[in-house]
Amino acid sequence: MNRIVVIHESKYGYTKRYAEWLGEALSCPVFERKTFRPRDLSRYETVIYGGGIYAGGISGIQFLRRNGMLLSGKKVLLFTCGLADPDNPDNISNIRSSVEKAFSGKIPEQIRLFHLRGGMDYSRLTFVHRSMMSMLRKMLLKKEDSERSWEDRQILETYGQCLDFTDRESIRPLVEYAGCESSL
Ligand SMILES: Cc1cc2nc3c(=O)[nH]c(=O)nc-3n(C[C@H](O)[C@H](O)[C@H](O)COP(=O)(O)O)c2cc1C
Repeated sequence: MNRIVVIHESKYGYTKRYAEWLGEALSCPVFERKTFRPRDLSRYETVIYGGGIYAGGISGIQFLRRNGMLLSGKKVLLFTCGLADPDNPDNISNIRSSVEKAFSGKIPEQIRLFHLRGGMDYSRLTFVHRSMMSMLRKMLLKKEDSERSWEDRQILETYGQCLDFTDRESIRPLVEYAGCESSL
């Protein structure tokens, strides 16, 4: 039997939504990172970890880094949840670089990366996050339009809005990989 667990860290609920959809699809328990005891990893064969992306970093990714020993021999899926469109290969390569940095250069072979698209409701942002987005906007406004990437333009066009790109169908590759017993 493939015992699976989903662990997540989510600030505004988008990663949590995906974690819950995964829990339903795989009939497995779902925990917030803060309430999950690493020693309980021994109960599972497959670990799915999800975190939101903030300024390029992935929320709570240290959970995977610090518990390398406890995760050894397990199948690990890491999904990121960000505003960046995962259909854009530049975004995927940026996220990959950030994960590599988190693992001091090399992502352990047992970890498979997945990228899901989240959302952002500007009216719910904390003061710090709102200030960060406002600084980013000011920086983007200073650029010539020709220097702006597609992502930059998207941020400027949708600034202040409530965006939600979550899509239940997009968890399918994770469900297939996690549920596949033979791939370890
Ligand atoms: C201050 C700030 C920085 C962000 N930086 C990024 C980023 O670098 N890349 C990205 O794709 N999304 C970025 N986002 C968008 C979040 O990843 C997105 O809102 C995600 O759905 C949050 O998931 P959560 O609610 O589960 O934490 C940022 C959002 C905020 C508020």
